[in-house]
Amino acid sequence: MHPHVLDWENKPLLFKIYPTLEVTRLPRDFHQTGRAALAAIADSESAPDKEAIPDLDTLAQLLFFSAGVIRSKKYAQGETFFRAASCTGALYEIELYVVCCDLPAKDQKPGAVPALPAGVYHFGAAEFGLRQLRAGDYRKVLVDVTGAEPAIAHAPIIIICTGTYWRNAWKYHSRTYRHFGWDNGTILANLLAMASAENLPARVVTGFVDSDVNALLGLDTKREVAFSIASLGHTKPEPPANPALSALELPTVPYSSQEVDYPAMRKMHSASSLDSAAEVTSWRGKTYTRTAPVPKGTVIPLVPLDESRTSKDTIEQVISRRGSTRQFSRDSITFQQLSTMLDHSTRGIPADFLNQSGGYLNDLYLIVNNVVGLAAGTYFYRWQEKTLELLKTGEFRDKAGYLGLEQQIPADAAVNVYFLADLKKILECYGNRGYRAVQLEAGILGGKLYLAAYAQKLGCSGLTFYDDDVISFFSPHARGKSAIFLIALGRSALRINR
Ligand SMILES: Cc1cc2nc3c(=O)[nH]c(=O)nc-3n(C[C@H](O)[C@H](O)[C@H](O)COP(=O)(O)O)c2cc1C
Repeated sequence: MHPHVLDWENKPLLFKIYPTLEVTRLPRDFHQTGRAALAAIADSESAPDKEAIPDLDTLAQLLFFSAGVIRSKKYAQGETFFRAASCTGALYEIELYVVCCDLPAKDQKPGAVPALPAGVYHFGAAEFGLRQLRAGDYRKVLVDVTGAEPAIAHAPIIIICTGTYWRNAWKYHSRTYRHFGWDNGTILANLLAMASAENLPARVVTGFVDSDVNALLGLDTKREVAFSIASLGHTKPEPPANPALSALELPTVPYSSQEVDYPAMRKMHSASSLDSAAEVTSWRGKTYTRTAPVPKGTVIPLVPLDESRTSKDTIEQVISRRGSTRQFSRDSITFQQLSTMLDHSTRGIPADFLNQSGGYLNDLYLIVNNVVGLAAGTYFYRWQEKTLELLKTGEFRDKAGYLGLEQQIPADAAVNVYFLADLKKILECYGNRGYRAVQLEAGILGGKLYLAAYAQKLGCSGLTFYDDDVISFFSPHARGKSAIFLIALGRSALRINR
């Protein structure tokens, strides 16, 4: 309803740059882990407790395949640097920071000078390097602010993901707050898969004292805020007491000549913030459990490809070939391919807001346009049983195009996967923090679906949608839920042959 024009002159920079800090370049000689992408995304193990301290090469590999620049393209308005994970509008508003103990070089003997000294670092995707914000081991701060979350207490490396409002609000205004969850989620999907491929335990942690994490990074919280944390690796000793925490006042290069403030987002963030370790401790451990309603329609079991017949393309190959499909061909995919994507993407996420035995917040609703072996129509995914419940048969391409913000992509795709959630119940369970968790979970699942599609050389794209119309369309089944996220799957009009 509001006139919406993009001010190209004022488009924000795609990178955060600290002009006064020297950059330490990361090693780029990446290796193939040999782990099939489909296996890596399906892994939900988070806690083998043997010593696993990543070396600097491994950290570099994890950062590159999660948030590194994998290709660039020139446009009339400038050049875009595409990253390993998809992101709304290719605006890349999620920044990564590394908090770590001393990290060794590859094959380094114990006692040698560390390749990366303990510190707090900003990951500079532009230069593929790290800038040190603080020298010393500050992991204890994160143990304290997460209420001694065990995965954090024993992590040699902790990644903090932040969202910068203006970097995405330039295009999407206040809706950016939802994009934080989605765009952070796709990065975490890659990070979890890469950690699995490197045999490193990893866990997503969303319960932390916001102000303390922001202070550790010296963030200007009117502009940038911590959104999620991830632990990587395992080390038995807990971190030592940290050095004193002074205020950081580090200049950064302005993103635009002027920024527009959208106070609704700051209000939202503040309303979902946790203020003390005690609050975090009482928040953690809440898990949302429910059972799917008794099916009313035909229930069809998934038929994933036999493991021996699935793609063995490695996670590095698949992330390198991933992109968002700009045009789908309208050709069919098979029910086996769809089943393989759903099955591998929904085997659980190691996260503090989910229980280990496969909990989830988002329900998946499908519009099937063209899948061999599955009638066109709408379906509800019965997550625990791995079945699809038929809601309505029929040809819904036009409707899918309309619901997906009147774009061609959802109309041409073979399948649209909508993520819908009962926000009322989720907020009752988790408080306002549940809003962040549900968006983040959708982003992680969406990120996994991207990888599952590209592993099979199929196309995929995240999409935006008309919230309320989506709910009406899937009602009465979806009555009372909210639309969270949308992924289109199908055959790309261009061959994916990398
Ligand atoms: C949550 C999400 C929503 C998106 N929505 C749309 C959309 O509505 N229309 C579209 O053409 N692309 C959409 N995209 C694709 C992005 O434009 C794309 O990820 C970005 O340009 C980066 O390109 P790449 O994914 O090919 O690396 C979306 C991506 C994500 C992650």
